[in-house]
Amino acid sequence: MRKHIVAGNWKMNLSEQEAIELAKEVAEMRVENTEIVIFPPAIFIPTLSKLNLNLKIGAQNFFPKDNGAFTGEISINQLKEAGVTYVLVGHSERRTILKEDNTFLKEKVNAALEKNLHVVFCCGEELAIREQGTENEFVKNQLNESLFHLTQEQIQNVTIAYEPIWAIGTGLTASSAQAEAMHLFIRETLSSKYTTEIAAGISILYGGSCNPTNAKELFACPNVDGGLIGGAALKSADFNSIANSF
Ligand code: 13P
Repeated sequence: MRKHIVAGNWKMNLSEQEAIELAKEVAEMRVENTEIVIFPPAIFIPTLSKLNLNLKIGAQNFFPKDNGAFTGEISINQLKEAGVTYVLVGHSERRTILKEDNTFLKEKVNAALEKNLHVVFCCGEELAIREQGTENEFVKNQLNESLFHLTQEQIQNVTIAYEPIWAIGTGLTASSAQAEAMHLFIRETLSSKYTTEIAAGISILYGGSCNPTNAKELFACPNVDGGLIGGAALKSADFNSIANSF
C-alpha cells in the first residue's frame, strides 16, 4: 500500500546554524510508519547530509540538464552527490514567481525520474478558479500536461501534493471535505489514466496552512496520505505534532 509522507518545505528560510538545529530535532522525532522528508535551501544540503540523520533530504529546485552554461542553476547529479533523494516539481511559487509552465515542468519530471529521484509533484488552483468551480479541470490539466506522458512504471516514483494556492501561507486551509474531494478526484484521474492498483499505490499529500490543529482531521481523510508543510515545518514541535497526526 501507499506510504504516509510528511515533508517540510523550508523555502528560503533559516541560517545554516538554524537549519542544522532544526534538521537534528526533526531526525529525533518519534514517528511510526511515516516517511519524513525535509526540503532545505540548497546551500545547506551538503552540510545536512553529512550529519547522516535519520531523514530523507529533498531539493526544492534543480535544472533539467546534465551540465553546461546555465548560470546559477544546480544539476540533478550535483544534488545527488550531495545526498538528495527527493525533488519538488511544480510548486506554485515556482510556477507563479519563476514562471515555470507545464511544459517545462514535464521536462523537470523527466530529468528527475531518469536519474532515479523521487518526484513530489505539486498541483493546485488559485482562488478565482475555485470560485468558478473549475478546480477539477484545472488540476487535471496540470497532471495531464506534466505527468501523464509517464509510463506505468515511472508514475509509481511520483508523489502528488495538492496545494490550493489560496491556502498557501494564508492561514486559510482547505476543509477536510474540500481536500478529500480533490484527492479523490486526483486518485480517480490516476486510476483512469493508469490502473486502479497503480492509483491506490500513489501517495497524495495535502499542502496549504497545514498545522498541528488541523492536521489530524485532514490526515483522517481516506485519500490524504500526508502533508507538504511550509510555515509549520520551521518549528520542530509543530512539525513533530503534524507528523504524528495519523
Ligand atoms: P504553508 O504550510 O506555509 O501554507 O506552505 C505550504 C507549502 O507551500 C508547502 O510547499
